Amino acid sequence: MQIREVGVIGCGLMGSGIAQVAATAGFPTVVLEASEELCQRGMHNISQRLERLVQKGTLSPHEGTAIQNRLKAVTDKSQLSNCDLVIEAIIENREEKLQLWRALDGILKREAILASNTSSLSITEMMMATSRPERFVGLHFFNPVPVMELVEIVRTILTDPQVHQTVLAFAGKLGKTPVCASDSAGFIVNRLLIPYLMDAIRALEQGAGSIADIDRAMKLGCGHPMGPFVLLDFIGLDTACSIANIVFEEFREPRFAPPGLLKRLVIAGRYGRKSGKGFYDYSDPNSPKPLELDRR
Ligand code: 3HC
Repeated sequence: MQIREVGVIGCGLMGSGIAQVAATAGFPTVVLEASEELCQRGMHNISQRLERLVQKGTLSPHEGTAIQNRLKAVTDKSQLSNCDLVIEAIIENREEKLQLWRALDGILKREAILASNTSSLSITEMMMATSRPERFVGLHFFNPVPVMELVEIVRTILTDPQVHQTVLAFAGKLGKTPVCASDSAGFIVNRLLIPYLMDAIRALEQGAGSIADIDRAMKLGCGHPMGPFVLLDFIGLDTACSIANIVFEEFREPRFAPPGLLKRLVIAGRYGRKSGKGFYDYSDPNSPKPLELDRR
């Protein structure tokens, strides 16, 4: 099984990162978005990141151009018909993903490998929306995709072992380190990360320390690159809350349940960095201000 051309569906934060690393690894990559405007926005973000790498001297101008030339943004699903591997990275919504896979099933070639970048939804359920469940895997990247080394490769009860091997080799070609996970909610990373992040919010609710001090403590005391609240804002509070709900739904253990403060922040539209406010206010990006304690 050989992967020659890659398709990426969705060119947001994760999709644009996946498309960038695939094209950088030499794969012609077709990116599907819902509108011309979203195509342009996604491609612009990739160009800017590549530009930065050229400016830093990590990439030669020639390589930068070659990577861009390997990328093609389209709005028509039929343009994915030649792809050997199609990675879906759309919004984390069960219904939308199932609908997309049903629609793609009649368009993608029979030998294509199908993959979802979902962080918590069931791969088994998605694969059953297609007529070729044995060719379906989870391929979970981490944000920021060009920087984070890990990819979780999720195998289901029905995944063909050859498909699994091909995807493992593909992750290696992207310069990533794959780990194998089974299709249980949260896979490996979010199963361990979510209780930690939810606990940080509970510690805050119970007065263990301030947002800034809890962040500082975990960063400097444990050597984490980001404290839990900076990381929550980075992931997106809506995303973190939705993953917590899904993992809680599966295991029914209180440690996975989203605390009240997280739910209130999401309802209030404070999604973290992407909305400008979360546990911190990013009005001045160089000096984010923590949420006032009396407004929790
Ligand atoms: N895209 C591309 N490159 C980026 C980037 C981005 N968004 N952000 C930072 N970088 C690059 C920088 O250019 C720099 O590259 P260089 O070393 O070649 O110069 C390098 O990363 C380091 O960046 P900075 O010096 O600006 O900042 P930091 O040293 O603080 O690193 C970080 C930034 C890599 C984001 C680091 O803080 C980190 O590792 N944070 C933790 C991230 C994390 O845990 N991600 C996983 C989230 S969970 C998830 O994704 C799963 C999902 O299901 C929820």
